[in-house]
Amino acid sequence: MKAAIIEQYGGPEVLKIAEVSKPVPGPGEVLIKVFAASVNPVDWKIRKGNLKMMLSKKFPKILGIEVSGIVEELGENVHSLKKGQRVFAGKGYEGGGYAEYVKAEAGRTIAIPDNISHEEACTMAVAGMTALQGLRNKGKIKPGMDVIINGASGGVGTYAVQIAKALGAKVTAVCSEKNLELVKSLGADVLIDYKKTDFTKLPKKYHIVFDAVGYRTFWQTRKTLRKRGVYVNISPSLPLYITSLLTRLYPGKKSKGFMLHPDMNDLAEVMQMISEKKIKVVIDRVFPLEKLAEAHQYSETERAKGKIVISINS
Ligand SMILES: NC(=O)c1ccc[n+]([C@@H]2O[C@H](COP(=O)([O-])OP(=O)(O)OC[C@H]3O[C@@H](n4cnc5c(N)ncnc54)[C@H](OP(=O)(O)O)[C@@H]3O)[C@@H](O)[C@H]2O)c1
Repeated sequence: MKAAIIEQYGGPEVLKIAEVSKPVPGPGEVLIKVFAASVNPVDWKIRKGNLKMMLSKKFPKILGIEVSGIVEELGENVHSLKKGQRVFAGKGYEGGGYAEYVKAEAGRTIAIPDNISHEEACTMAVAGMTALQGLRNKGKIKPGMDVIINGASGGVGTYAVQIAKALGAKVTAVCSEKNLELVKSLGADVLIDYKKTDFTKLPKKYHIVFDAVGYRTFWQTRKTLRKRGVYVNISPSLPLYITSLLTRLYPGKKSKGFMLHPDMNDLAEVMQMISEKKIKVVIDRVFPLEKLAEAHQYSETERAKGKIVISINS
């Protein structure tokens, strides 16, 4: 089968298209014929070697941590899925998604309804679930709350604006001028162009500051938070971890770092919101597998409007 492999860490040029053997699903696994794979910033962070301490030393590697496709084969003891079923699967940091076929744990594979395309489905976990878990589990979002989303036009941000609205919040969205119309169309109540206005200097106070790009800090946004407001940052770092520990020791405003954790119920919730048209998946560009390096380069500009997707087997 065809796959995009890396034989060493490095720039986009280390991504090569190669013929590799088709994976064989083991017990509890399924083989998926991939139609779409999502590009996430973590993919190029892995490609550069930033996460090498957490990964096996084995090369070649196939990156790509979330896919959508159809079940081609069932491994032993898989009874929850059927051959030919349209599915989404999460793969974790070891990846495997940028390929014509991928094997996945049946427990991390979910059937997708016919009204969600493969391009939409492949984006549901990393961007969609991050927005849901970050706002709900960390931010403790409730209807009527004032929420500000920094980085509202990106992969996570476009989901976060819509999920916060779907959960009944009043949403202020922060993005650059060229993306104001897009973010407004997703339902944001108030728009702020970060190149003209620094939201941390405005008098308005929020229950949740959701930093979807991680370019702010708790200390910068502290005055923007209400008395018991929460700053949620999805870009983990040591200073963020220390700040979060510190704010846990005192009553009042909190800083919280966030790491996505796989949860099939949360995934199903995001999927249902998409299927019921409560949220729409914003797809900026679709690249063929052969142009994966270009797609990574584009993602690395950090200028994507919504999601970048790789189309495979089409
Ligand atoms: N912790 C976790 O589990 C987790 C999960 C998912 C993602 N993440 C991390 O979250 C970050 C965002 O992910 P993503 O997929 O949403 O990335 P993305 O799609 O590449 O984000 C691109 C967006 O960021 C906006 N942006 C860039 N600079 C900005 C600034 N200074 N202020 C406000 N917006 C700015 C851009 O808008 P403009 O063009 O308008 O500037 C663009 O729309 C990445 O670092 C990713 O690794 C973490």
